[in-house]
Amino acid sequence: MKPRVPSNWGQTILVCAKCSKKLKGGFGARERTPLAKALRKHLGLKKGRKAELGIVEVKCMGVCPRGAVTVVDAGGPREWLLVPKGTDLDVVAAELGLGHKPS
Ligand code: FES
Repeated sequence: MKPRVPSNWGQTILVCAKCSKKLKGGFGARERTPLAKALRKHLGLKKGRKAELGIVEVKCMGVCPRGAVTVVDAGGPREWLLVPKGTDLDVVAAELGLGHKPS
């Protein structure tokens, strides 16, 4: 086994999976898609390590906001984002500094 593998990620975003589960998704056209998946699709990201940035679902981070999802930018973890259910994905991307479509 190789001790290291390369990755294209320039940024890592952590999204609470439990928050998304509580909202039964909460994002996308029918508000049924979890934030991490909706955001990946919205930004047109490739899969896994080939993507320009990583959006990863993680376990509960202890904030547990009502009607929202906890999101952490691993590159700037001193302030966490609480994203209300159904928030426009352009707004979420802009808040996280992902406003541009990665090429
Ligand atoms: S359920 Fe998401 S932070 Fe606890």
